[in-house]
Amino acid sequence: MDLRGEASMEYKRKRILTGDRPTGRLHLGHYVGSLRNRLSLQDQYECFFIIADLHTLTTNPDKSNVSAIHENVFELLLDYLAVGIDPERSVIFLQSGIPETYELNLIFEMLVTVPRLERVPSLKDMAKIASLDSMPFGLLGYPVLQAADILLPRATLVPVGKDNEAHVEVTREIARRFNRLYGEVFPIPEALIGDVPSLVGIDGMAQMSKSRGNTIDLADDADTVRAKVMQMFTDPARVRADVPGRVEGNPVFIYHDVFNANQEQVAELKVRYREGKVGDVEVKQHLSQALNDFLDPIRERRAKFVSKASILEDILVAGTERMREEARETMSLVREAMGMYHLPR
Ligand code: TRP
Repeated sequence: MDLRGEASMEYKRKRILTGDRPTGRLHLGHYVGSLRNRLSLQDQYECFFIIADLHTLTTNPDKSNVSAIHENVFELLLDYLAVGIDPERSVIFLQSGIPETYELNLIFEMLVTVPRLERVPSLKDMAKIASLDSMPFGLLGYPVLQAADILLPRATLVPVGKDNEAHVEVTREIARRFNRLYGEVFPIPEALIGDVPSLVGIDGMAQMSKSRGNTIDLADDADTVRAKVMQMFTDPARVRADVPGRVEGNPVFIYHDVFNANQEQVAELKVRYREGKVGDVEVKQHLSQALNDFLDPIRERRAKFVSKASILEDILVAGTERMREEARETMSLVREAMGMYHLPR
C-alpha cells in the first residue's frame, strides 16, 4: 500500500472547520441555518466539527455556567449525530481537550491589535446580551480564539452564519500576518456564509432562538411538536376559517414550505387557505404530521446512540485525539517557523 500517495490525496481534499458553542439543544432554526448544509459538506470535504466549550466562558465564566457545560456538550454531540453527522467520516472534537488551542491563541494575541478587535460588531452585541457593562479581555479575544480553532487544523473553508463573518476576517488577517512574519504555515481560510434566511420562531415574531422560547427542538417528542404547532401564530387578521387568509409571511406556511415532504399538499392547502376554505387547525394538523415525519429519522438515530452506553464519550474522545494529531503537527510547524528557543524536552 502506498501510504504517501494516500496521505497526499487526503491533503488535497479541502478541509472544513465549523461548530457551535454548547449552550443547549439545537432546534429547527439550526437545522435550516447550518446543520443541513454541514450534512452535504460532509460528502465533499474533510470536516472537523468543534464543540467550542471555551468560547462559552467569554460571556459567562460563572461556576453555574461552567458546570452546565458537561451536559450541554453531550446534548450538542447527540444533536449532531442524530441529524446524521457521521463520526466515521467527520471529526467531532471538544475544544478544551486540545491544549494546543490555548498555545496558539496566545501567539495569535500578539498579531492583532485591540482597536481592530474593538471594531468587531458581534462582540459588543454579545456583551450586551450577557448584560456585561464592560468588555472582558477574553470576550474581546473571542475571534482570536476562533482563529486558533480554525488554523490549528489548517482549515481552508469555514461555514458560519453572518454573525461570525467578521471573526473569519480576523482569522484571515492573523494567518497573513503570521505567514509574513515567520513563513508560510497557514492557508488563508475562506468563510462560507449561508444565504438562507433565518427561520422564524413559532411566535412568528422573530428568529427562532432559545432565549425567546419560540423553538421547536430537534429533540422534541411528537406530542411536544403537536402542542407547539397548535400554539403557533398564523395570519393575525384571520378571525374565522371562512375568511380568506394570507399565506405569505405566515409562519405555519413557512414551515410547510421548508419541512413538508408533500409539496402538493402544501400547494393545495395554500389555495384553500387563500379562499377561506380551510381552518387553521387542519393546516396545523398537517404541519405537525410533516414535522414529525421529518423528525422521526432524527429521533431514531438519537435513540440508537442513547441506548449504547459510553459510545458518545468514545466518539468525542476519538475525535479529539484525531484533532490533536493535527494540532501537534501544526504547533511543530509554528515553532519551527518562529524559531523560538525551546527546552530540549
Ligand atoms: N463562534 C461560533 C458561534 O457563534 C462557534 C465557534 C467557535 C466556531 N470556534 C469556531 C465556528 C470555529 C466556526 C469555526 O457559536
